[in-house]
Amino acid sequence: MITSSAPGKVYLFGEHAVVYGEPAVPCAIERRATVHVESREDDRIRVEANDLSLDGFTVTYGENPDEANVDVPGDLVEAATGYVNGAVEQARDAADAPSAGFNVEIESEIPLGAGLGSSAAVVVAGIDAATRELGVELSADELAERAYRVEHEVQEGQASRADTFCSAMGGAVRVEGDDCARIDDPPELPFVVGYDGEAGNTGKLVAGVRERREQYGFAADTVEAIGDLVRQGRRALRDDDVAQLGELMDFNHGLLSALGVSSRSLETMVWAARDAGARGAKLTGAGGGGCIVALDETTSTRLALEYTPGCEAAFRAELDTEGVRRE
Ligand code: MEV
Repeated sequence: MITSSAPGKVYLFGEHAVVYGEPAVPCAIERRATVHVESREDDRIRVEANDLSLDGFTVTYGENPDEANVDVPGDLVEAATGYVNGAVEQARDAADAPSAGFNVEIESEIPLGAGLGSSAAVVVAGIDAATRELGVELSADELAERAYRVEHEVQEGQASRADTFCSAMGGAVRVEGDDCARIDDPPELPFVVGYDGEAGNTGKLVAGVRERREQYGFAADTVEAIGDLVRQGRRALRDDDVAQLGELMDFNHGLLSALGVSSRSLETMVWAARDAGARGAKLTGAGGGGCIVALDETTSTRLALEYTPGCEAAFRAELDTEGVRRE
């Protein structure tokens, strides 16, 4: 049995706009998805996911996941098997083993669909473990590329490289179209995460922004304004200007809200963080529910979030400088 893990992430800036080529700055955090992979005698795939902050499930399927023999309902399994199946396809392709079958076991500290990059982490760790099980070692760059292809397909052609590159490489990264790189020596970023226990559907949220952008010139301008803000944010990162980073996070949240991807509980958590003295706070990831990220070096924001109705969990998230890890 081979085991790999990969980190989740928060977006300091730039989600959604990054899908249209604007820059973004996702940051890996010390919460990981771990994937164990073992070859099978046949060409089937058996997935066991015990800890995805949702009910665990086990599913076994052959070529067609629709014919899965499943013990839990619909869209949860559809989403998870889409990503796992994509990871397996990439590993089969990389190792030139088109009919390799696997038992896959997933453990994750990253809630599913909550804006912390759980799918990217599962895909990166899954491709790495499955290729190694087939005797092939991929570079982190190739893992990032193959994981991106999976997200692109599952999100029906509307994905950026941000989540998958960040999870494969670790650290704070900058992504702009196909141009992705790690940011050297970022300042101390005291992230606090608030989680409302909900999940957003990334594909639908991305499609919603696309429609608004096509319908209204000012929505397209809003996407471009996020790009301008991220360019300013990259300068603030270079200057270690954490106060300005906070201000820009607040601004970024307002623009995401205008694009229709916030929710009542995300707004409540963002305002609880600001009232507690956070330097800035915004939703992170696709939105619609899930997580906010705030910057606060003190314990005030975490404590305030813990007492905020609708916030299920609040925790400090350290930057994880390591990407994919061979366990
Ligand atoms: C989702 O984690 C981030 C989005 O920008 C989509 C993407 O970049 O593929 C909303």
